[in-house]
Amino acid sequence: MPELAFLNGNIMPIEEARVPVEDRGYQFGDAVYEYVAGYKGRLFALEQHLDRLEHSLRALDFPIVSRDQVRRAVIETFKQSGIERAGVYLQISRGVAPRNHAFPAHSQPQIVVTVRHAHETPPEHLQKGIRVVTVTDIRWGRCDIKTVQLLANVLAKQKALESGVEDAIFISNEGVVREGTASNLFIRCADHLLTHPATPQILAGITRSVLIEICGEQGIQVHQQFFDRNTLLSADEVFLTGTSTEVLPVIAIDGRKIADGQPGPTTLNLRRELEKRANQNDV
Ligand code: PDD
Repeated sequence: MPELAFLNGNIMPIEEARVPVEDRGYQFGDAVYEYVAGYKGRLFALEQHLDRLEHSLRALDFPIVSRDQVRRAVIETFKQSGIERAGVYLQISRGVAPRNHAFPAHSQPQIVVTVRHAHETPPEHLQKGIRVVTVTDIRWGRCDIKTVQLLANVLAKQKALESGVEDAIFISNEGVVREGTASNLFIRCADHLLTHPATPQILAGITRSVLIEICGEQGIQVHQQFFDRNTLLSADEVFLTGTSTEVLPVIAIDGRKIADGQPGPTTLNLRRELEKRANQNDV
């Protein structure tokens, strides 16, 4: 199955897609993105991703981009690829213009879509859980906008790998536990879950909201509230959620075991429930 790109209205093999050097996404990080998962030839939660995309575009005062046009580009590229279990990346930059910090007077937002085989989580990470380190959150104050400016996330992930673990969790200067490098974070304390509220300090994940819905159906209480590192370390279970992460158990943080160091029952149950939904769904 070919890995494809959509660029300027055309679909082509991914290696052939070229973006001009004066694309503002390239020079300023002046671009927003979404990452959508395809399961069994269907896109999971596409409309929620398009809602969040519109939030990002509005927050950055982008010129109007037609939701229908974006939806068509995503679906058409995905269908043409024939890849059933896909990672669909969508990026919209403010356009191509001579380098100047101010918005260009007339720019045409540039839409790029790529469809690749999904990076599936290694089975041993799912079975045994992953280890993470905590890092200081050095990101800007609008993490609710899904921009391509991901350097702090890149550095945090790299630090995790160089520390011999799988991922990193951001903690603010004031000690508030935020989220993972490309995922949200939940903890279980006795009979309820805690996760960071949807403030500008995190990206409110689509998976996070699907999980909150699933918990509602299952009678599991989720409190969206701030918590600190001590609460994190003493949790009964910790897990990450995201489009590529799905639900991923965390069994050690900064070298300290969480509970008995095994993936917990609530995490595993929620992972199964999410899998069911993803395999039933959508476009
Ligand atoms: N990232 N928080 C951050 C910082 C993220 O980058 C992501 C997703 C999430 C989870 O959001 P969602 O459930 O909507 O995927 C939370 C994507 C997958 C990425 O960067 O590739």
